[in-house]
Amino acid sequence: MKFFADTAEIDEIKDLAATGLLDGVTTNPSLIAKSGRDFMEVTKEICGITDGPVSAEVVALDHATMMKEADKLRAIAETVCIKVPLTIDGLKTCKALTEDGTMVNVTLCFSANQALLAAKAGASFISPFVGRHDDNGTNGMELIEDIRLIYDNYGFETEILVASVRHVTHVLESARIGADVMTAPPKVIKSLFNHVLTEKGIAGFLADWEKTGQSIL
Ligand code: E4P
Repeated sequence: MKFFADTAEIDEIKDLAATGLLDGVTTNPSLIAKSGRDFMEVTKEICGITDGPVSAEVVALDHATMMKEADKLRAIAETVCIKVPLTIDGLKTCKALTEDGTMVNVTLCFSANQALLAAKAGASFISPFVGRHDDNGTNGMELIEDIRLIYDNYGFETEILVASVRHVTHVLESARIGADVMTAPPKVIKSLFNHVLTEKGIAGFLADWEKTGQSIL
């Protein structure tokens, strides 16, 4: 399963890239606002850190203006993946861009039927938001299971990009189900390293090492 970082914070992206875990980055208008950075500039900077897809989202609601925005964004780098909302105009834009060889991430997916539409429109990625489902009292991971089943039934190549990931269990379940990608805040990705027995093990080894009075360097 590929790991994308869901952030526009440059230092955090660099830090994750150094671990070799980073396969791409997703942003959205809220994350750009939170970063306080210029959208075009920060997107270009992110593309310089990772070789993987960098999702940059259009904000227009109509197809013609979405295409104009996408043209500006895809000129930043070949790895820019245009993010469009799951609407009729969003999917028209998805079809036009993918036919033109540009990657498209269809976002704000909350149902398996919506995911089916995105795959039929040729989306490179579909982003079902699991955390927001959970917030709303429905099980986000069941949506991932349904989409996996439907995509496998028909051999769709659209990659399932689990989004709105809030905790390590979302990551584990995504991998169990066979999602292609998950995007999570850096804090969640880093928490995957944590295990109390790893910490306890390190402390025990260090205590015994002290007793030897030796030094490696
Ligand atoms: C995905 O691409 C979105 O940017 C993101 O995962 C949304 O997450 P949130 O529901 O935590 O805002």
